[in-house]
Amino acid sequence: MASLFRLVFAVFLMMLLSAIDNPVGASKEIKVGGAEGWRQPGVNDSAMYNQWAARHRFHVGDSLRFQYKNDSVLVVDKYGYFHCNTTNPISTFEDGSTLVTIERPGPAYFTSGDPDHCKNGQRLAIEVMGLHPIARSPPSIAYPPQSYMAVSPSPVSSSGESVPMAALAVVSVSMGLVTSFVTYLAFAP
Ligand SMILES: *[C@@H]1O[C@H](CO)[C@@H](O)[C@H](O)[C@H]1NC(C)=O
Ligand SMILES: *[C@@H]1O[C@H](CO)[C@@H](O)[C@H](O)[C@H]1NC(C)=O
Ligand SMILES: *[C@@H]1O[C@H](CO)[C@@H](O)[C@H](O)[C@H]1NC(C)=O
Repeated sequence: MASLFRLVFAVFLMMLLSAIDNPVGASKEIKVGGAEGWRQPGVNDSAMYNQWAARHRFHVGDSLRFQYKNDSVLVVDKYGYFHCNTTNPISTFEDGSTLVTIERPGPAYFTSGDPDHCKNGQRLAIEVMGLHPIARSPPSIAYPPQSYMAVSPSPVSSSGESVPMAALAVVSVSMGLVTSFVTYLAFAP
């Protein structure tokens, strides 16, 4: 009876481990603008979406949730973003709660369908990194927003991929330890 329990527990732990180890499982839904949602920024707040983007990291497979009222979301190219030109969007959404899945690494651009809203700061440019690396540290530690803004003018590149080898080594070692423990649980008399 006890050994059966141990076996089940061991299998459960194994499944847990493979879930942690699976980078695709780490995809997340990110709400654009946080609690503010997708809206025209206030008079002195035209950089609000740039600042919001600088506090987040975006990976292929993540999705962006735009929540808005009486407004719209356009996926645009770089030109459309910088000139608030809304005449040739890649796609248009007006449903009030739009989920856009990020499918490619590199830059991605969004704006309100109202050019005036765009000029007042309701536009978003993000830099998308590849698939989630396995050993991903929390953005708040890896990426203090202030120093990030000061140090690097070109957004959100490089960091996610260049997980230090030391961190990977630590993960491998701890995986090894846990695996040994699980094996012990399963086969100890
Ligand atoms: C915006 O900033 C200007 C100058 O800093 C200030 O005079 C004005 O009151 C601010 N307006 C709002 C709505 O905060
Ligand atoms: C909706 O948006 C349009 C254009 O931005 C504006 O003219 C209108 O007053 C808005 N209506 C409401 C109910 O906010
Ligand atoms: C917007 O871009 C289109 C081409 O995509 C161009 O024909 C049009 O003149 C531009 N509008 C403005 C206001 O710049």
